[in-house]
Amino acid sequence: MLELQRIKISDERLELIQAEAASMPFEDNSIDLITIGFGVRNFDNLNESLTEIHRVLKPGGYLIIIEMFKAEKISSRIFNFYFSKIMPFLGNKLSKSKTAYNYLSDSVQNFLTVPEFTGICNKNGFTLEKSVNNFIGVVNSVYLRKS
Ligand SMILES: C[S@@+](CC[C@H](N)C(=O)[O-])C[C@H]1O[C@@H](n2cnc3c(N)ncnc32)[C@H](O)[C@@H]1O
Repeated sequence: MLELQRIKISDERLELIQAEAASMPFEDNSIDLITIGFGVRNFDNLNESLTEIHRVLKPGGYLIIIEMFKAEKISSRIFNFYFSKIMPFLGNKLSKSKTAYNYLSDSVQNFLTVPEFTGICNKNGFTLEKSVNNFIGVVNSVYLRKS
C-alpha cells in the first residue's frame, strides 16, 4: 500500500512510514492532525490505538475519521438490505472474489454505530465536534478534537 501511495505522492519531502496505530514512532503532543480512512473498523485494539493517538496529538489537535459504521435504527432496514444482499452480490461479482465483500458486510454489521464509537472516543479524551453522514447512514466522517 505504501508503494502505491509513493506513486500517488511524488513529493519526496513527504515521508511514508509503516507503524501500528497503537505504537507510533512520534513524540508526545507533536502532531496537528491525524486522519484515518476506512481503518478503525479493522483495528483489533481500538482503545489502545485511541490512547496512542491522544498521546501524539497536540492539545486541541484533530482526529478525523471516515468509516463505514453500523447504521442506527432509522436507516437500518435500508442498510441491512443493501449490505446483506446488494453490496456482497455486486462486490463479489465485480471483484471476481467469492468472499471479499462478504467480509466487508460482516465487519460493518459487527462494528459500532457512530454514537457508540464517539462514546468510546470520548472516554479516551476526545470531544466530538461534528459527524457528517456521507452515505445512507453507513459511511460517516467523524471530527474529533483532543480535549
Ligand atoms: C481498508 S484499508 C484502507 C486503506 C486506505 N486508508 C484507503 O482508504 O484506501 C485499511 C487499512 O488499515 C490498516 N490498519 C488496520 N489495522 C491497523 C492498525 N492497528 N494500525 C495501523 N494500520 C492498520 C491496514 O493495514 C490497511 O492498510
